[in-house]
Amino acid sequence: MDPDVFLSLLGEAKRLLESADTGELELLHQWPRDPEPALQSPQNLPVLAWLDSILADTPDTAWAFVDNLVAHSNELYWGQTYQTDDFGAAFLQRYGWCKFAGPGSPLADSALACGVLLLGPETEYPSHSHAAEEIYLPLSGQAEFYREDNGWKAKAPLIPVHNPPWIRHAIKTGDTPLLVLYLWSGDGLDRKSTIG
Ligand SMILES: [Fe+2]
Repeated sequence: MDPDVFLSLLGEAKRLLESADTGELELLHQWPRDPEPALQSPQNLPVLAWLDSILADTPDTAWAFVDNLVAHSNELYWGQTYQTDDFGAAFLQRYGWCKFAGPGSPLADSALACGVLLLGPETEYPSHSHAAEEIYLPLSGQAEFYREDNGWKAKAPLIPVHNPPWIRHAIKTGDTPLLVLYLWSGDGLDRKSTIG
């Protein structure tokens, strides 16, 4: 990938997070300054098949970022944290992420982790928790987000979701795929979530 394309994606991600209506985004104070990405070899996943339909369901504010992401998706490294034993084989066909900053990403030294999560339609990302504080910013698709103290809530694109450290949370998509920006800050940026 052209480093300028990566930096453009990173800048658009930051702009979207900054424009989100949330009081939690002091997390962004740790955003990488003068980033010099060490770009990774691309890796595709089955879930990328859903990217083609995502633009039709993306609001104008997020369109430039999502269009750029879709156009260059085959040049990025898409990964999965879980294995078949965690949530089953069908989940792995409909789940994947691309990390822009944080451990194991092109900006590995970053004090926060940021990337996108893509889920196919009719998919449940089961309950899990982690030490990091998290913001999800949905960019496309309709989905319900669970938080153990709040139950299931439907969230439209650009309505942020805040998950404090170690709170159990989950996501359930409907008949459209879901693309969200995620931002992690705090401890355990390189640790797998605890399931359950
Ligand atoms: Fe999470």
